[in-house]
Amino acid sequence: MRAFKKVILIMLAVSLPLFFLTLLVKGASAEETGEALFRSNCASCHPDGDNILNPKKTLRKTDREANKIVTAEDIVQKMRNPGPAPTHPQEWAGMKMFDKNKISDDDALKIANYILKTFN
Ligand code: HEC
Repeated sequence: MRAFKKVILIMLAVSLPLFFLTLLVKGASAEETGEALFRSNCASCHPDGDNILNPKKTLRKTDREANKIVTAEDIVQKMRNPGPAPTHPQEWAGMKMFDKNKISDDDALKIANYILKTFN
């Protein structure tokens, strides 16, 4: 019986820290970086900050500023309200809209700051 108790104790001693470790790891992955968020939401149309649909509207500083998109808030605004929805036929399709349900304000700002610091 004493051996049995020991086994239980050892199992607890091993599994409890493991349990808390999984919680930590989960917490870390839920917090995505601006770069990761950019990759999963924007890079399909903006690989390396380009614009595969409208080459005059890349994410690089010169294009952005020519189009009056200067601050992080301006970029968030573009995600929330990217302009006219694409209608067919036309030369290129428009940018898809990202509302708060798709990308939270916090995440949107992270993406915007990533763009500002990455594509000059
Ligand atoms: C379906 C393709 C597509 C996706 C996905 C997309 N974009 Fe765009 N993006 C476009 C197009 C097309 C434009 C040009 C829109 C216009 O006419 O103003 C654009 C323009 C922009 C501009 C303005 C650039 C400039 O020089 O005027 C910013 C900033 C931008 N996108 C950010 C983002 C961010 C951030 C994401 C991800 C959250 C994203 N885009 C996802 C297609 C896309």
